[in-house]
Amino acid sequence: MKRGVFVTFEGGEGAGKSTQIRHLARWLAERGIETAVTREPGGTPLAEAVRGVLLGGAGTPDAVTQTLLFAAARRDNVLNVIRPALAAGHAVLCDRFADSTRAYQGGKLPDADIEATIRLATDGLAPDLTLLLDLPPEVGLARARRRGTADRFENDNLSFHEGVRGRFLALAKAEPARVAVLDGTLPEDELAVTITRIVEERLGVRVARGRES
Ligand code: TYD
Repeated sequence: MKRGVFVTFEGGEGAGKSTQIRHLARWLAERGIETAVTREPGGTPLAEAVRGVLLGGAGTPDAVTQTLLFAAARRDNVLNVIRPALAAGHAVLCDRFADSTRAYQGGKLPDADIEATIRLATDGLAPDLTLLLDLPPEVGLARARRRGTADRFENDNLSFHEGVRGRFLALAKAEPARVAVLDGTLPEDELAVTITRIVEERLGVRVARGRES
């Protein structure tokens, strides 16, 4: 069955994901490829409401509650935004997806529980390509603080963020065909060009096919 391509962007805080998503969305649009952009937690009214709960400081949910809330938001986004867009042959760019749960909650819950919630949330849907914007956490956290967007998760300590980075890199090592690691400290334009090259190399055929449909 023909379907669009599903690309996720991952990385620590302040890695520049949203800027690069804008670049790639424009590049795809210029090639006539319809593109949906979404984010996690978020993407639907329900999931955005869950995002408000998670990032807005309502109570202090433990790691299991956090994982379940991220999963609930993800399922709503998958069912109502991501799957329908892919079924229509559109490209989908998602700012964070299941790998963020693996990297952020992974240190706190057993792997089997993490994978079980991801399976429930995604309904088995996995990205065709994941672009991991990697950078030292102190660089990303400084960027996030300058932006004034440091939230509950960004205020966790440096060693936690080093763990997040290590888990992202381990995922990339385990699944090199899906996850491409990029140097998030590169200048914005250079990174954007590198990303389009990777998308062409790895998804070129499928992107071209999506254009015909
Ligand atoms: P956001 O402001 O989107 O962060 P960023 O701009 O860095 O992408 O906030 C999302 C936060 O939620 C971020 O700290 C990562 C965290 N998160 C998880 O811990 N688990 C998840 O499954 C997801 C999707 C996000």
